[in-house]
Amino acid sequence: MDSLLIRGGQQLSGQVPIAGAKNAALPAMVASLLTDEPLVLARLPAVNDIRSLKLLLAGLGVEISEHNSTTELRAARLRSTHADYDLVRKMRASVLVLGPLLARAGEAEVSLPGGCAIGARPVNLHVEAMRALGAEVVLENGYLRARARGHRLRGGEIVLPLPSVGATENALMAAVLAEGESRIVNPAREPEVGDLVRCLVAMGARIEGFGGSAIHVQGVERLGGARHRVISDRIEAGTYAIAAAITGGCLKLAGAVADDLEVFLATLRGAGVDVVAYGDGDDDGDDEGGGVVVDARDCRLRACDVATAAHPGFPTDLQAQFMALMTRAEGESRITERIFENRFMHVQELERLGARIRVRGASALVSGPAELRGAQVTATDLRASVSLVLAGLAAEGETVVNRIYHLDRGYAGLEDKLRACGASLERLPGRADAAA
Ligand code: EPZ
Repeated sequence: MDSLLIRGGQQLSGQVPIAGAKNAALPAMVASLLTDEPLVLARLPAVNDIRSLKLLLAGLGVEISEHNSTTELRAARLRSTHADYDLVRKMRASVLVLGPLLARAGEAEVSLPGGCAIGARPVNLHVEAMRALGAEVVLENGYLRARARGHRLRGGEIVLPLPSVGATENALMAAVLAEGESRIVNPAREPEVGDLVRCLVAMGARIEGFGGSAIHVQGVERLGGARHRVISDRIEAGTYAIAAAITGGCLKLAGAVADDLEVFLATLRGAGVDVVAYGDGDDDGDDEGGGVVVDARDCRLRACDVATAAHPGFPTDLQAQFMALMTRAEGESRITERIFENRFMHVQELERLGARIRVRGASALVSGPAELRGAQVTATDLRASVSLVLAGLAAEGETVVNRIYHLDRGYAGLEDKLRACGASLERLPGRADAAA
């Protein structure tokens, strides 16, 4: 497995084009299962999670082709309703096929995704949502076997005890083809869910109330094809914002949408970094469109406290990166993780680089500024991995981040983008240490 060698200490400057959002692209691709007509998606990021999902969808009968930077997905006829363990375990988001398969074919057999480095991450809310729409769901031999009574789901009320992103998406993709009206109470409000709603509406779905306390869906007989452009990746944008801040540099994040990152950007300002949104707020990823400039030259980083929360709160997917930044800030910051119970796996690795962090329950107390020095570190999930890259950029000497396959799952062209802004890093192919 590859590693990344980083020679720290370079101030980054330049422009970074922000890619399409992985976590919006994945459900949009799955939505292709809902129609026999082509769904054409623009701006799918070139990351391994997208490649894994293509394999899974192809196995279900989706024909996938690329044309001029768009991807066409067509499920003219479903070949199978079985999502196999080997594919699902690679990527938890695969469980999103449950709702659309049930809605389109009246049945689905989807492997449980299994454990995950950032906590237990159960799928009980997905299952309950399907049951509320009239499906029978049983767990047998590690598979969720689901069947719609009378072959078609019927509208119902889905009350989510917490606003799960995936369960909201699964419920939406099931309810759009169910008979009658559905209500999803306490749904997720993340921009990626909003993007799925836009995609489904473009396909002919009738959905109202996204962003509020309940989403209403009026089921339709069939959905058609559509063209949809995936939103800009707010987590990638936030990650590069921290790359600028932690190296005392200045980066223009072309295509970043400030409105999707309000709380995060306000926190960054609170830490002393200059953040300015420019342009018209669209996300074309070029100079004419919108973006955000993050300038940390001449800035003295100050400690600040954050607690992750569902959108519009501080995103859990930027918690590890923000912790890396706070190691360099003056004072003590308290970082509290409220979404996942085990998302501090980066703490020990940041300590190897010289960070001073104490974990107290769901909070990490970071004392700074710490002098970071290069070391060997090992990544355990996507965002933890990138937090180590960020710390490595600010550390003196050489840092080697092992097991970077996590990075390849979610960051398109990370090394090229960083190098183009002045970072010094290279990929070391196939180190035997990471075989486990
Ligand atoms: C999505 O995961 C994202 N993944 C995650 O991104 C992100 O961290 C997370 O939302 C929170 O924003 C994708 O969009 C593909 P949840 P998801 O259901 O849908 C609990 C990344 O790095 N829960 O909103 O799986 C769960 O355990 C990743 O890109 C249940 O208890 O997250 C967690 O504590 C990782 N039962 C909380 O809800 C369920 O059935 C929120 O999870 C489902 C979830």
